[in-house]
Amino acid sequence: MNEIVVVSGSASINFGINLAKGLGSRLAVVEASRYPDGECYVRIPDDLTGDTVVLVQTTYPDECIIELFLTVDAVREFDIERLILVVPYFGYARQDKKFKSGEAVSARALTRHLQIGVDTFLTVDIHEEKILGMFEIPARNITAMREIGAFLSPLQPDLVLAPDQGAVELARIAADELGCSWDYLEKTRLNGSNVVMKPKNLQVKDLNVAIVDDIISTGGTIATAAEQLRDQGATKIFAACTHGLFAKDGLDRVKSICTGVFATDTIKNSARALSAAPAIVEALRSELS
Ligand code: R5P
Repeated sequence: MNEIVVVSGSASINFGINLAKGLGSRLAVVEASRYPDGECYVRIPDDLTGDTVVLVQTTYPDECIIELFLTVDAVREFDIERLILVVPYFGYARQDKKFKSGEAVSARALTRHLQIGVDTFLTVDIHEEKILGMFEIPARNITAMREIGAFLSPLQPDLVLAPDQGAVELARIAADELGCSWDYLEKTRLNGSNVVMKPKNLQVKDLNVAIVDDIISTGGTIATAAEQLRDQGATKIFAACTHGLFAKDGLDRVKSICTGVFATDTIKNSARALSAAPAIVEALRSELS
């Protein structure tokens, strides 16, 4: 039968459920387990023959990458119509070039392998959009910032702020959804956990501000931006991101200064407050029409 089937890997079950609901399609959850030596076992408990398969699996943490490769192999055991791979969070997208001789270009290494056996690739708020040009198959980035903007709406932010210039388009999209203004800060990273930001006179006194970013990892970026806003008299500061990595004490660090911290379901995390799947549903509708 040519039906659309969402096949969800173990890293993206919530996302897969929401995707299948939004598409009104069948859902097959991958049976994934580990052998005593830690190697991965994968089985798809469904017949996918003749179907258009939408496989969903985030590439974080590392073991999910192996599970994904095995799942593509398992999907291809069936005589399917087409395989669309949705990677809600593209791990390893933060190194798209070589800084020192001898380094791996991790984003390129991932793209080379992710496209094997796949017809079309979709991801959400990839850290660097030009990585998509490394694929030899059609590859698209879909933003979840409209969903984030709609989620933040009841909190009535007066301003959406990007913590650096790289996130300015995300802030613009969220602000557009909210019907409010947007701005950005200038960030310089000192090391893995610490950043500095150029002071900027933001006129945020007595305003509610939402800081949005693609990723919150150690929380250093958002915490530094929030400190600047607090010192300039902002009333409430909200932090929202697509990908809630929250490395080390990242979530507590952001919570200690922000009124609310929100992330989507592209990665399993304890600040998950909304789903990014509706953005992919819309993209798939146009992809499949
Ligand atoms: C960097 O350019 C990204 O957009 C994020 O701002 C960054 O990954 C956040 O990392 P952290 O939370 O560790 O500051």
